[in-house]
Amino acid sequence: MSFRCFLAVAAALLLFQGPLTIRAAAAAPLFHTCSNAAKNSTASGRYDVALSSLLGYLRDQTPRNDGFALGSLGSSLRDRPYGVALCRGDASAADCRSCVGNATAEILRRCPSDKSAAIWYDGCTVRYSDSDFFGRVDDRVRFYLINTANASDAASFDGKLRELMGRLAREAAYVAPRMFAEGVMELAAGASEEEEKKLYGLVECSRDLGSGECKKCVGEAIGQLPRCCGGKVGGQVVGGSCRIRYEVYPFLAAGFKS
Ligand SMILES: *[C@@H]1O[C@H](CO)[C@@H](O)[C@H](O)[C@H]1NC(C)=O
Ligand SMILES: *[C@@H]1O[C@H](CO)[C@@H](O)[C@H](O)[C@H]1NC(C)=O
Ligand SMILES: *[C@@H]1O[C@H](CO)[C@@H](O)[C@H](O)[C@H]1NC(C)=O
Repeated sequence: MSFRCFLAVAAALLLFQGPLTIRAAAAAPLFHTCSNAAKNSTASGRYDVALSSLLGYLRDQTPRNDGFALGSLGSSLRDRPYGVALCRGDASAADCRSCVGNATAEILRRCPSDKSAAIWYDGCTVRYSDSDFFGRVDDRVRFYLINTANASDAASFDGKLRELMGRLAREAAYVAPRMFAEGVMELAAGASEEEEKKLYGLVECSRDLGSGECKKCVGEAIGQLPRCCGGKVGGQVVGGSCRIRYEVYPFLAAGFKS
């Protein structure tokens, strides 16, 4: 019997106990997928050669190009990989370089013989495929990260969360030049000492998307919130083309200015 991992609609649920766990895991990938459709490489391994050059190009260009790069390489259609790398909008050029460097090496280690693959880190995402996926919402894989602590007043918290995410979604899709939006919202005044007081959010699309696709991708991610993260004080919905995150503590890179 063979076990196959389909790159179909797959949702993985990763649970974290709290912010410390997430920070400690920052250098490790959050998730990856391999297509499992073996690269039907030609005898000369032209796909592998082109892929290796493409990943090198993404590694080089992404930190220089404001955290985003895409490209396609290869002499024949059959041996041509398409790739995208995106660093989180608040990552410094140095962190972006380090993250994409790790991601491009690790994706080949984890998916050594696949025509398409994707890998997600806290700070960046790298994806490649043998077909042109640029500009299209990739909703084949989506995963969640949850802070399991409960909000003290779930209904009011979730209402504020919807409001913040709706605002950031519009900003990322239609206003922010890098399709990255972050913001803070005050929670109930009068909250006691140990209760959450502020809500911090992030919404980001892969910059190969147009505004309409970004809005659609983020809308779908926000639509997952009740299911994955209802009443929880922190959560992330991460997909191929966009990601959203909220926490009751500031989580953007130190030194980042919007
Ligand atoms: C890249 O990997 C190195 C070695 O594992 C690690 O120290 C570093 O933090 C990683 N960088 C990022 C941005 O994850
Ligand atoms: C893969 O390549 C082999 C020959 O190397 C060929 O027989 C086979 O049909 C190919 N499979 C696909 C899915 O293209
Ligand atoms: C959160 O609330 C649910 C029920 O509403 C409860 O089962 C769960 O144990 C709570 N989690 C924590 C971390 O307190």
